[in-house]
Order: sequence, then structure tokens, then C-alpha cells
Amino acid sequence: MPNLLIRGGRPLRGAVRVGGRKNSAVAVLPAALLAQSESIIENLPHIDDVAVYLDILRAMGVKITQHRTGNGTFGLDPSSLSAGIAAPQDLVKRMRASYYLLGVLLGRFGQAEVCLPGGCDIGSRPIDQHLKGFRALGAEVSQEHGVVKLKASGGLTGADIYLDVASVGATINIMLAAVYADGTTIIENAAKEPHVVDVASYLNAAGARVQGAGTDVIRIKGVTSLPGCTHAIIPDDIEAATYMMAAGITRGDVQIENIIPKHLDPISAKLREAGLEVEENGDWIRVRGVARPRALHLKTLPYPGFPTDAGPPMSVLLSLAEGTSVVTEWAHDGRHKHLEELTRMGANVRVEGRTAIIEGVKGLSGAPVRATDLRAGAALVLAGLAAEGLTEVSGMEHVFRGYDQMPEKLAKLGADITSA
Ligand code: EPU
Repeated sequence: MPNLLIRGGRPLRGAVRVGGRKNSAVAVLPAALLAQSESIIENLPHIDDVAVYLDILRAMGVKITQHRTGNGTFGLDPSSLSAGIAAPQDLVKRMRASYYLLGVLLGRFGQAEVCLPGGCDIGSRPIDQHLKGFRALGAEVSQEHGVVKLKASGGLTGADIYLDVASVGATINIMLAAVYADGTTIIENAAKEPHVVDVASYLNAAGARVQGAGTDVIRIKGVTSLPGCTHAIIPDDIEAATYMMAAGITRGDVQIENIIPKHLDPISAKLREAGLEVEENGDWIRVRGVARPRALHLKTLPYPGFPTDAGPPMSVLLSLAEGTSVVTEWAHDGRHKHLEELTRMGANVRVEGRTAIIEGVKGLSGAPVRATDLRAGAALVLAGLAAEGLTEVSGMEHVFRGYDQMPEKLAKLGADITSA
């Protein structure tokens, strides 16, 4: 994968269109396996995680057709799938969201064997709450040689499941498994992220009966068939947030289009607190930077709090703020890895556990830096846009997993950005 070369210092100006939400796409794609006939999924982002997921499903026997008209539209026909179908291990290990195959295969066939998922190295990422949910529904759970095995010989039965932590992955996975369960499943302390709602919307349009998604109690009444449907993935809040911050970091003026402003409320609120101008209307948001943002205190939290995945780019903005900022992370213990790289560029940062103390500096200077995960990579690209001189970002494969044509979109906004 070529490195990205960025000559910083140019204010970004113009409009950028946001693609479909990664964390929704990587859940709706496997969810389509629950249907008996074809689903058409629209607004899938052009990112590597989606490409890998499509490869996984293709290898499992799903008939996939790309629609020439429409933006990121694919037909997924799982009608020839049968019990005992295996997911290709090498591809499954490449992403976190392959854990949804557990819920889907268990729900549809009463059995699943999927190796433990891979994904970004941002600390320990247990799946105990997923497994607790599957057990409560009646599955036997075992783990051997890195493979999770689920079996529900007597079928699945609806159950009350209280999640110890409002996990996005566990909420969606249990929802997927429970679609065909006998009776009603209740998930309490469910995650409320809009992508949980998006998956429920897909399932309901396909024929499921899911109520309450977006609140902390979700009820799923089991059905006996799912005919499939057409569904458009919601816009990517984190991609939008990244461009909002890019506008601020470069003291630019950028209109971010094809978004749901409500989903960005926690971001807009913090950017306004930092002194940036944020204007919103219908399906766009416009952000104008200021000479120097103000320092602030930030805690990432589950939705509707400030999203953990927008923490790394925000900490780059704060590295240039007037004063001392404190960023505390709730979800991932390895979330601040980009900050060590950022110090190579002149940032003044101290990390203590999940807290980063950021003394704002007047400017960053270009340097070779390495992306260690998806959001860390995006943060370093943003740092390069603000830095004086040349920044070379390696490890761009992490960024392309989750950002739809990022270098092209930034170049269109006026960034001096090339591959080498
Ligand atoms: N947790 C448990 N047990 C579980 C599941 C989660 O203890 O069984 C803990 C985790 O350790 C973490 C917290 O609960 O501290 C939240 O984890 P969650 O399950 O919500 O996260 P995830 O499903 O692993 C998804 C996104 C992440 C995003 C988090 C939080 C996908 C594929 N990934 O991960 O996205 O950070 O939710 O919103 O949806 C990214 O896009 O860059 C990314 C890392």
C-alpha cells in the first residue's frame, strides 16, 4: 500500500459528500443472509471493509450483483445457503464485524462456526456479551483453536438479556440471532447508536418484528420467514465528523453533504465549544475554522455522547488549541495510539491510561508517521493537512478500510496530497 504524502498548510474549501456508514454497512450485509430471497442494499460505501465483507459472503455462496445504476448498490441473494456453511477464515480474521456471522448463522440455521474476529488493534475487545446473549437464547457455546462454535439443537427461544455494557456489537448480534427465535427477546441496556437503528430498519423492512431500537430496551418478536427488501444505508457520521474537523484544523470552510445533522449533534456541540462556526441545514453541515481553537475537556461516550471513533481526529484539532485539553476515552484502552506519532510532529501530549492531556501548540511540523489503526490513521492525515512542510503517512491500508476515497475527497477540497 503506497504511503500518503501531504504538504500541509492549505485551508480546505468547498463541498464534500459523505458515503454510507461503515459500521452500519458491515452489519446490514451479513443481516441479508437471514432473508430467504434477495435484498438490495443501497448507499454502501466504497471502502475495503465492505469489499472484504462482500468477498466473505460470495465465498459462502451468496449471489452478489452490483447494480450499475445507483450509488453503491448491491443485490444479495442468499437463497442457496444451507446449514453447515463455512465462513472463509482468512477473510473473517481481517475485520471485527465478521462477528455478526455468528448471530446470523445461529439465527438462520441454529448453528455457527466462525473464527474469532480481527480488526483494529485498539485494545482488548471481548465478545462475552455476544456469547451471553446467544446462550440465553438457547445456544451451546464453545471455543476451540480460535473458532467460536454455536449450536442450538432445539432451536432458539426468546429470552430477557441484560447487557453489562451497552455494546454496539452485542446488541446487533443478539438482534440478528433473535429474529427467528420462538417468542419474544428483550435486550436491556442496549446500545442506542443510529447504526443499531439502521440494522433494525433493514430487518423490519425485510419482514422482522423489532421494536425499540434507538432506546435502551429492544424487543424482537420471532417471525418464521424474512422475504428480503430494499434498504439504503444511513450516512457515515464519523466520516462527516472527520471532514468537519479537517475544516477546523486547516482554518478552512467546508460544507459536508448527504448527512443527518441530528446524528452529528455531539460533534457540532464540541466544535462550537472550541470556537468553530458550525451551521446546519437539512442534509448538510458547514464548518468554518478560526485562527486558533479553544482548549476543552472531552469524554467519549456511547450515543448520544461524543463518539469514540471521532476522538482521534478531535485530539489533533485540540493539539493546536489555545490552552490545555483533556480527552478521556470510554470504549477502547488503545485509542490514543496516534498521539505518540503526533508528538513527532511537535504536539505536546501526555497519555495516562485512557486519558490524554494535550497542551495546545501554535503549529505542527511535517514528519514521517505511521497509522496503527483506522481512526488513528485519519487523525494523522488531518495532522498532515495542518502541518508545515511534508508529512508522509504509512499504514494507509488501515484508513482505506473505513474511509471512502479520502485522498481524492481531500484533494478536491484543495489539499496538496499524493501517493508515493
Ligand atoms: N465490550 C465488552 N464485552 C463485549 C462487547 C463489548 O466488554 O462482549 C466492551 C468493549 O471492550 C468496549 C465497549 O464494550 O469497551 C464497547 O464495545 P462495542 O461492543 O460497542 O464495540 P464494538 O462492537 O467492538 C463497534 C464499532 C467500533 C466502535 C465501537 C464503539 C463496529 C464494527 N465497530 O465496535 O468502531 O468504536 O462500536 O462505538 O461496529 C471504528 O469504526 O473505527 C471502530 C472501532
